[in-house]
Amino acid sequence: MGYSIAIDGPAGAGKSTIAKKVAKELAFIYVDTGAMYRAMGLYCLREQIRPEDEAAVCRAVKDVDIQIVYRDKEQSVLLNKEDVTGLLRTEEVGSMASAISIYPDVRRKLVALQQELAKKVDVVMDGRDIGTCVLPDAPVKIYLTAGSAERAKRRCQELRSQGREADIREIEADIIARDERDMNREASPLRKAQDAVEIDSSHMGIEEVAEQVIQLYKERRG
Ligand code: DC
Repeated sequence: MGYSIAIDGPAGAGKSTIAKKVAKELAFIYVDTGAMYRAMGLYCLREQIRPEDEAAVCRAVKDVDIQIVYRDKEQSVLLNKEDVTGLLRTEEVGSMASAISIYPDVRRKLVALQQELAKKVDVVMDGRDIGTCVLPDAPVKIYLTAGSAERAKRRCQELRSQGREADIREIEADIIARDERDMNREASPLRKAQDAVEIDSSHMGIEEVAEQVIQLYKERRG
């Protein structure tokens, strides 16, 4: 079993930025579990499967092959052997991922894949249910949050830096809707694990948050 650091929290709290940085500093592998749900979401969008149609989504889960590969420690997601990594970070795919991630069949398949990865290597894994469900024995668990206005602001900046249009009110509404769904679904909802350390990053820089996580890791590992 590898060593695991679990980072959970709502959309846009900075999980992936922090997880990537911590992984780099500790020479761990960064595992982005949201990308796996997004790949499944992309497949449903392409196949024009409605997210409300549970039977169709569950059939799709059986048909689809999702693989995670690492090139220079960067994660790529293969959907039926096609590298879809560059197609996953749109609002449309994110919303679809959130909508289909409520189904236990979808979760079972992807959780098994995540647990398999963590067995082999040291990981910093981010998502919604890592500390509560995927890696309940992870020695370091972080619950990273930030206010929805701050999260919307960061997301807007990210989109604008890529030359894309962004309406902050629309983005904040989308973030709130996604939180609501991720926190209130029946199957492993987003929740702070009992033994997780909560960090509110609303008024913190990336360096400072990463430093706290690394400090916690050093304390725990001794
Ligand atoms: O972290 P993200 O925005 O890439 O995740 C997209 C959606 O996938 C998220 O809204 C809910 C779902 N998800 C999940 O249910 N469990 C995870 N471990 C990761 C993501």
